[in-house]
Amino acid sequence: MRHVVGSGVRQILDIGTGLPTAPNIHETAREVAPDVRVAYVDNDPIVKKHADALLTSSGATSIVLADLRDPQAVVDHPDVRRIIDFAEPVALFLMAILHFVTDAEKPDRIVATLRDALPAGSFLVLSHATGDLADRRDAQAVYDNATASMNLRSHAEVGRFFDGFDLIEPGLVQVPFWRPDTPPPARSEEVGFYGGVGRKAG
Ligand SMILES: C[S@@+](CC[C@H](N)C(=O)[O-])C[C@H]1O[C@@H](n2cnc3c(N)ncnc32)[C@H](O)[C@@H]1O
Repeated sequence: MRHVVGSGVRQILDIGTGLPTAPNIHETAREVAPDVRVAYVDNDPIVKKHADALLTSSGATSIVLADLRDPQAVVDHPDVRRIIDFAEPVALFLMAILHFVTDAEKPDRIVATLRDALPAGSFLVLSHATGDLADRRDAQAVYDNATASMNLRSHAEVGRFFDGFDLIEPGLVQVPFWRPDTPPPARSEEVGFYGGVGRKAG
């Protein structure tokens, strides 16, 4: 987030926001640039209710109830359009959400639809659970009776979501190794998450 805002982007579309935390994305972003606008999107009404109460104290932020699996509806949503101008570069955040989308729901098509709505100079910021580094069947099983299944993907599969984007250094790596502020964990095989940032070329 600090990188994309530092690169000049002033609009963030965060799909799969989760419950409000401290600090939230718009709070951290505005430490870098006070004029950053954030549209938060989640399909969980409980997330929207909590976020409505906490996040929308500023008019430059909206929280929208919509489903990633209908990406055109996200792009066309009036409360997204109120915040995001798709003629200007956007940072699209898909953090810890795509692994809730099954292969049958065509996550590659979903990301491509969003990518095609973004102008050149936009960023994709993505993290995704993986079973590459350790056996994650126990973690996966936790979601078997949840509202969404856990779909672990390999480095190559997650990397394909960046089609049409140029991955910036250090590429697609375990999340704590992406330009760390603090020393990465010693037992890195326990980190079952890849993360990366890509920039849409002109
Ligand atoms: C694990 S949380 C991630 C929260 C935050 N992005 C982070 O990285 O800390 C995943 C969020 O994605 C939301 N979500 C899952 N499937 C979704 C979908 N199809 N459309 C929109 N939101 C979805 C869930 O409701 C949940 O709030």
